[in-house]
Amino acid sequence: MKKPGLGTLGLLMIGLLSVWSFFGQHAPIAWPQPSEQALLSAAVTVLVYVLACTALLWRRRAKPAAPAAGEGALLVVYASQTGHAEQLAQHSADALRAAGQSVELLPLGALDAARLRRHDRMLFVISTTGEGDAPDNAFRFLARMTEQHPLPTLRYGVLALGDRRYQHYCGFGHAVASWLRQQGAQALFETIEVNDGDAAALKQWQQQLGQLAGNAVIGSWAQAEFPRWRLVERRQLNPGSVGGPVHHLAFEPVSALPAWQAGDIAEVRLPQRDAAEPVQQRDYSIASLPTDGRLELLVREQRDAEGRLGRGSGWLCVQAVIGEEIAMQVRSNRSFHLPDDNRPLILIGNGTGLAGLRALLKARAAAGQHRNWLLYGERNAAHDQVYGGELADWQQAGVLTRVDFAWSRDQPERIYVQQRLQQAADLLRSWVAEGAAIYVCGGAQDMAPAVEQVLLAELGAETLQTLRETGRYRRDVY
Ligand SMILES: Cc1cc2nc3c(=O)[nH]c(=O)nc-3n(C[C@H](O)[C@H](O)[C@H](O)COP(=O)(O)O)c2cc1C
Repeated sequence: MKKPGLGTLGLLMIGLLSVWSFFGQHAPIAWPQPSEQALLSAAVTVLVYVLACTALLWRRRAKPAAPAAGEGALLVVYASQTGHAEQLAQHSADALRAAGQSVELLPLGALDAARLRRHDRMLFVISTTGEGDAPDNAFRFLARMTEQHPLPTLRYGVLALGDRRYQHYCGFGHAVASWLRQQGAQALFETIEVNDGDAAALKQWQQQLGQLAGNAVIGSWAQAEFPRWRLVERRQLNPGSVGGPVHHLAFEPVSALPAWQAGDIAEVRLPQRDAAEPVQQRDYSIASLPTDGRLELLVREQRDAEGRLGRGSGWLCVQAVIGEEIAMQVRSNRSFHLPDDNRPLILIGNGTGLAGLRALLKARAAAGQHRNWLLYGERNAAHDQVYGGELADWQQAGVLTRVDFAWSRDQPERIYVQQRLQQAADLLRSWVAEGAAIYVCGGAQDMAPAVEQVLLAELGAETLQTLRETGRYRRDVY
C-alpha cells in the first residue's frame, strides 16, 4: 500500500482542526454564545480546508500515471561477440541513467515481439562478426528479421561496430537498421559506424546520447584510466618451432586484482611511442583465473611480410622488460563464459587459442567438473607442446577425459583439428546427446569455419542452431 504523503497528513490535520473549531463553537453544553470573531475564524478554517482539498486533488490529477515497468524506458540493445558492443551498451546505459533517464539493457537475442511493441525509443549497439555476420548472441533475432513487425511509433538509433578491413563493413549493424526502417520506425540520427573502436565516432555517439537525455553532458569513457600491471614473467613455450615464437606472459596488478571469469578478455593499452601517436589497444584471451593471483596471456610474435614485428605482440613478446608496467583492463566476454552446471565440455582450439581454453579448464578443475574433452592443433609435437605439462597433469588427474592432438606437420599430409573432430564424430554426437557444450577458441580464418563445417555435417543445422541459441556452442575466435 502507498504511504500517506505530507500533503495528505497536512490535510488530515487541517480537517481535525476545523472540526474541533466548529464543534468548539456549537457544542450543546452551556458554553457562552460564540462571538462573531470566533464564527469568522471557524468559517476561514473550513474554507482553508476545502481549498487545500481541491489543491491536492488537482495535483493528483495533473500528475501523469507512473509508467508500468519497462514502458517509457529507453531500451538499449546490444549484439556482441567479444564483449565490445556489450561494454559500450553498458557504458551508454550508465551515462543515460546518470543523466536521469530510465533505461533498460538487453541482448538483441532477447528482444521479442512484446518488447518491440512496448518501447518507443531504442538504441542498438551492434557488432558484426564472421563475414558480415551476426554475433552468436543475436542469432535468435535473425528469425524475427525475416518477419514483419510494424513499428510506426518506434524511434531508434544504431551504433554499428566493425572493422574496415572486412569486406562487409558493419554489415550486421546496417542490416538491423534497414530492417527497422522497413518496419516504419524512424531513425533518431544516421547510423554511426565505429571502425575498430574509433574515438571520433564514439564521441559522436556520446553527443547523440546527450541530446536524448535533454542535452546532458555525457562524459567520455573511452579515455578512462586503465589499471596498471607489472610484467613479472615471460617464457617462450615453443623453442625450435617452425611457427612464430609463442610466449607465456604473467602480470601482477600494481594495486588491486580485479575480478574476472574464465573466457574474459584483457585489453592491453600499448605505450605511445610519441605524444602524437593515438593510443592503441590490443585484445588477448586471458589464460588464468583471479585465484592464480596474476593475469596470464599466451601471445605469438607477429611479423609482417617484411619481417617487422607487430605493434602489440612485438611490445609484449620482445620490447617490454620484466618489471615494466602496462595499462590493462579486463573486459567481460559473456559469449565465452562457462555453463552454470557441470555438463560435459568439448573444447576445440589451435595455436594461442589454448589461452581461453586453459582458463576454462582451470575453472572446471577447480570446480571438480571432470568431463572435459580437448581437441588441440599445432604444428609439431616435438616443439609445439604449449602448456604440455599442464595438459598431461590434467589428463592424469582425470580433469581431461580425452585429448586429441592434431600435429599438422608431423606427417606428409596436413592434419588439423577439424579432421580430428570428424574422426571422432560418433563420440561428438554422443557427448552432445548427453548435453555437452562446445567451446571453440583460436583462428577465425581457417580453423573456426572448418570446425563449424564438421559440426554442421555431423550434428545437422537444426541441432547446431539449437546449441547456438542455448549457449552450448560458444566461440572466441580472432
Ligand atoms: C572473427 C571476426 C570477424 C569479423 N568480421 C567483421 C566483418 O565482417 N565486418 C566488420 O565490419 N567487422 C568485422 N569484425 C570486427 C568487429 O566487428 C569488431 O572487432 C567489433 O568491435 C567487435 O565487437 P564485439 O566485441 O561486440 O563483438 C570482425 C572481428 C572478428 C574478430
